[in-house]
Amino acid sequence: MAFGKKLAACLHAGLTIFLIGNLGAGKTTLTRGILHGLGYQQLVKSPTYNLVEIYKISRLYLYHFDFYRFNDYLEWEEAGFRDYFNSDSICLIEWPEKAGNLLPIADLQLAFNILETGRSIQIQAGTETGKQCLEHWKNTSN
Ligand SMILES: Nc1ncnc2c1ncn2[C@@H]1O[C@H](COP(=O)(O)OP(=O)(O)OP(=O)(O)O)[C@@H](O)[C@H]1O
Ligand SMILES: [Mg+2]
Repeated sequence: MAFGKKLAACLHAGLTIFLIGNLGAGKTTLTRGILHGLGYQQLVKSPTYNLVEIYKISRLYLYHFDFYRFNDYLEWEEAGFRDYFNSDSICLIEWPEKAGNLLPIADLQLAFNILETGRSIQIQAGTETGKQCLEHWKNTSN
């Protein structure tokens, strides 16, 4: 939660972020932290059953996807998910690997590992925009 809140300060509309990790690794918990960091005060549900939860925080849209139960690629087009990835929104995606190559390239990829106490998270940038986010993070996080 605390890490998500800090990370929120470096995020902006237009970003696509993949959350990679086993069941229970902390992907939804991190998303909760990010949403709180962005000023969202209400309940943050896991999108496991609905595929997506939608948040609007002033002018920003945040789409929190969970593709764990995704099994029909046609569903992607029919649901209009492609339109969710735009310059007004941040897209956070749990289980992106289940959507095959339908997804845009991730600006940031966060890989979770379960440790004896807590979790470790490795962050990688996949685009120039992602690299700039990480630079901003390094310059402001001390
Ligand atoms: N950093 C952490 N340290 C200790 N416990 C944590 C941490 N992050 C999450 N948890 C706990 O692990 C459990 C599962 O977390 P969470 O639902 O965020 O996982 P998830 O990666 O979203 O799983 P799924 O793939 O099933 O959606 C929760 O009980 C949560 O409180
Ligand atoms: Mg989850």
